[in-house]
Amino acid sequence: MNVAIDGPAGAGKSTIAKKAAKALGYIYIDTGAMYRTLALACIREGLNAGEEEKVCDICEKSDVELVYRDGEQVMLLNGENVNAFIRTEEVSRMTSSISTYKRVREKLLNLQREIASKNDIIMDGRDIGTFVLPDAEVKIYLTASVETRAKRRYDEQTARGTECVLEEIMKDIEERDYRDMHREIAPLKKADDAIVIDSSYMDIDEVTQKVTDEINRRR
Ligand code: DC
Repeated sequence: MNVAIDGPAGAGKSTIAKKAAKALGYIYIDTGAMYRTLALACIREGLNAGEEEKVCDICEKSDVELVYRDGEQVMLLNGENVNAFIRTEEVSRMTSSISTYKRVREKLLNLQREIASKNDIIMDGRDIGTFVLPDAEVKIYLTASVETRAKRRYDEQTARGTECVLEEIMKDIEERDYRDMHREIAPLKKADDAIVIDSSYMDIDEVTQKVTDEINRRR
């Protein structure tokens, strides 16, 4: 059973996918974390997002592995656990830019399809229902207003003790949405057969319930 959850940044995909996977005994795959790991590799090399050749070379050379430790997805970059470094705003911006490159996407596409072929999974990202797993049994397009998504990110960062400005986060999200939706390869869009859930006025449990109901209906 393959479940695809796509949608813009901050819509709650990972929170919901994680909870639904736990409830159903499926494996949760966060594909954004894979792209983030490659972005971190580029930042560490001192590259600018615009240097396509060099970015693609580094991404191809980097060893990215996804493993599970204590039930959590852990990203390994050349063997190092980088989970603690891939959630910064700098990495988010770099990720959104380098994920537009064909060679970068091809590297991860193979890895994602391989994992999905062997397991019952819930995979979240931008192009899972449209491109990575077009035959997924359940496809969800999870969205929310820009204001709601920015406020959620602001609360997350503040809770982590990171100082931030709501207006800047909102601008950042709008820019990322634009890049993710308008890139040439595998842009973010709703698959024709996806169920749309707008989480702007729903809490986490309500959305999780709706997603698990949809999955159970098709099992
Ligand atoms: O889901 P996230 O915010 O961690 O994703 C970070 C970036 O990675 C996002 O701006 C676009 C890119 N991404 C992608 O292009 N395709 C995916 N399947 C997942 C993420």
